[in-house]
Amino acid sequence: MDTKIFELNDNNELAGGEIREAAEILKNGGLVAFPTETVYGLGADALNPLAVEKLFVAKGRPSDNPLIVHIADIQSLDLLTPAITPDVKLLADKFWPGPLTLVLPKKAQVPHITTGGLCTVAVRMPDNAIALSLIKESGCVIAAPSANISGHPSPTRGKHVIDDLFGRVDAIIIGEDCKVGIESTVLDMTDDNPVILRPGIITPEQLSRALGRTVAFDPAVLAQSKHDYDQPESADFAPRSPGMKYTHYAPKADMIILEGAPENVAREMQRIKTEQEQSGSRVGLIRLDGKSYEEAARDFFAKLRQLDGEGVDLILAGALSSSDPVGLALMNRMLKAAGYRVLHV
Ligand code: TXA
Ligand code: MG
Repeated sequence: MDTKIFELNDNNELAGGEIREAAEILKNGGLVAFPTETVYGLGADALNPLAVEKLFVAKGRPSDNPLIVHIADIQSLDLLTPAITPDVKLLADKFWPGPLTLVLPKKAQVPHITTGGLCTVAVRMPDNAIALSLIKESGCVIAAPSANISGHPSPTRGKHVIDDLFGRVDAIIIGEDCKVGIESTVLDMTDDNPVILRPGIITPEQLSRALGRTVAFDPAVLAQSKHDYDQPESADFAPRSPGMKYTHYAPKADMIILEGAPENVAREMQRIKTEQEQSGSRVGLIRLDGKSYEEAARDFFAKLRQLDGEGVDLILAGALSSSDPVGLALMNRMLKAAGYRVLHV
């Protein structure tokens, strides 16, 4: 398939004509990858089952893994759900556009293929000017999973999308690098007690404060975000968010997380690196090096892809503190990338 590439001009903008062309592709049931503030998304008209089917094929995504529907104005929520409660309004007002996805009961017109067969639909309004004008211009609500081949690290730079999807989709819009770098917080609002199904940079504390009651993580999230030495099987459970059961973000290299006092982690990293290199392996390190957790999150997926590009055999990463909410969200991705291999040092 011919893939059109749309790039920013010198003013860091996309020409209006290009937005219209990309929007037209979406309207006609095609696939367009576009930047968001979290990671790049691969968009299709969420209410067109044939378009959504193409999207699953292009990504190689299992069909029971539901998609997030992206909207550009709050009125579009009406198309998707009958349940716009005061709490939903409040969260939408406070956090949209932004990296928060709300899981809500779905209306009948939302095709089952979009929701992976579930009676609920996940919705968010991305905080990215290109994404918002593309969605508006298309007049559609846009289903958009991360714009990677299923199982690859999520794409946070335009180059990552080209590497994964060139030749498999109708168009790719190359914008700026994603400023958040990890996917949105997914909040299930279908129950009386809202529950976080996927951690992100919008934290339980922020959500609790906004709603005036406690918002907790789904137990599955905690099991997938903290390594529990007493229960090494703790990653095996029935998750409520279907996407959580798949191995994600796997770099080609093996990856191990080192957890312990900072001086032990630094020492062991060097020791293992030297030892492995002596036997001919190439080793890449992921360290904070003075970066904040937010900065580390922004760069994490890019770092995995960079190390893979360098042909590294083994990646060693220092554990982050799960008592910090952003640390927990990033550890959730790191543990998945490492296949839950943690070395206590
Ligand atoms: O930041 C993001 O959310 C990015 C950008 C592109 O917006 N999108 C993204 O999509 O991460 P994806 O498809 O890679 O992840 C969607 C997640 C999956 O874990 C899926 O299981 C969950 O959202 N999800 C979607 N619909 C759901 C539903 N109805 N109930 C529970 N979980 C749902
Ligand atoms: Mg994804």
